[in-house]
Amino acid sequence: MKHIDIIDLMSDSSYLNKDVTVCGWVRTSRDSKNMAFIELNDGTSLNHIQIVIDKATIPNSKEYLKLGSSLKVIGTVVPSAVKNDGVEINAKQISVLGECPDEYPLQKKRHTLEFLRTMPHLRVRTNTFNAVLRVRSKMAAAIHEYFQKNHYTYVHTPILTASDCEGAGEMFTATTIGFSNEYKSAEEYFENDFFGQRAGLSVSGQLEGEVAAMGLGKIYTFGPSFRAENSNTPRHVAEFWHIEPEVAFAELEDIIEIAEDMIKYIVKYVIDNCACELEFFEKHFEKGLREKLENVVSSDFVVLDYTDAIELLKKADVKFEYPVEWGCDLQTEHERYITEQVYNKPVFVTNYPKDIKSFYMKQNPDGKTVAATDLLVPGVGEIIGCSEREADIDKLLNAMRSKNMSIDEYHDYLDLRKFGTVPHSGFGLGFERIIMYVTGISNIRDVILYPRTVGSIR
Ligand code: 4AD
Ligand code: MG
Repeated sequence: MKHIDIIDLMSDSSYLNKDVTVCGWVRTSRDSKNMAFIELNDGTSLNHIQIVIDKATIPNSKEYLKLGSSLKVIGTVVPSAVKNDGVEINAKQISVLGECPDEYPLQKKRHTLEFLRTMPHLRVRTNTFNAVLRVRSKMAAAIHEYFQKNHYTYVHTPILTASDCEGAGEMFTATTIGFSNEYKSAEEYFENDFFGQRAGLSVSGQLEGEVAAMGLGKIYTFGPSFRAENSNTPRHVAEFWHIEPEVAFAELEDIIEIAEDMIKYIVKYVIDNCACELEFFEKHFEKGLREKLENVVSSDFVVLDYTDAIELLKKADVKFEYPVEWGCDLQTEHERYITEQVYNKPVFVTNYPKDIKSFYMKQNPDGKTVAATDLLVPGVGEIIGCSEREADIDKLLNAMRSKNMSIDEYHDYLDLRKFGTVPHSGFGLGFERIIMYVTGISNIRDVILYPRTVGSIR
């Protein structure tokens, strides 16, 4: 079906006074005595194109005005009667591609995000989801561009895996058997299952990412990770998209520099390429959004030692729900206090107690902490989990034993420390979390096409 994108029509003045064909969905319409007006959107731009119908030329105009219906319009591009340097189309011929009855749920009024969550298949036709998904797409492009420019190789790590990278027991099991009385134990069940052992959906591509980095030097992954987290929060989904660079010959301070540089690059890319969408988010979701993002690009992130963070929280004039003691994991309320109340910018908290972190993190000489950092941002909390990896095989084995891990499952991973081990570091950025930060949308369910959360999938 030959037609032009509405975004091109609106940005290219050479279409003026020419006849064009556009296709789209009716977003709003207005009927008057001699004329009718349609705001048509084809998803290429947040802005709709106005279709002007002269009832003398186009009879039966009523059948084109139904919200949600899809149209093909042939007409002449003319300067807009109301918008400065805008254009509209004087319709010559309209055909209905798909009718839309009155029960169409997206009527003229502004719907709440909660309401829209009940119809993931239709909410894409709202300005909000149009803008979110376009920013999401631009951010994905920015991430690839950043790593490709800096000599990283994009690797595809397995989704089906036998090892739980984070050791948090949140791995979904992948099985082909299902309900059965045949097996006496879980062991027997999995021995008879597809892979002959228990397998699941990967919570992180890191372990295989490290394998790739030990030959390619600098790699990144960008794919889905799965976590059976039984918590219903605005920041967790069971399937999220995960960006995980892994860098050989990099220590903690090097990877912190890389993480900051990458975040700044993505944010700048969105400022430069999504002006219209940012203006929309600023108006409807977060006042001061643009200024916040400009500050992210232009100022240094804070680096704060975990031990100092604990002191800060203890001195805070706030009653936290979860008490603060050295050794505790930081809760969302603590993270938000640090980034929102104290610094009002992104903060790397470094050197966490080893007991609350994963087995693979490099053990610091103090014997108590690991060379790890989380990047916390205002409004969202943790967006990055990062660490230097333990490169010493004996220390790694000790950590695995103290966490009661089954060492046999990590044969390949341990081999990396045996054959030409190097200092190396990496991080995981939660894609939805950074989209929340950049758009000001406060629930993770609203930055992904189909959110999967505990008790809910469609
Ligand atoms: O901090 P996490 O658990 O770190 C790792 O998985 C490391 N293996 C990463 C690495 O070093 N290569 O997860 C990394 C990030 C979190 O900071 C968060 O942004 C995101 O992944 N994340 C989630 N996002 C949405 N829903 C969930 N359930 C998430 N769990 C983690
Ligand atoms: Mg984490």
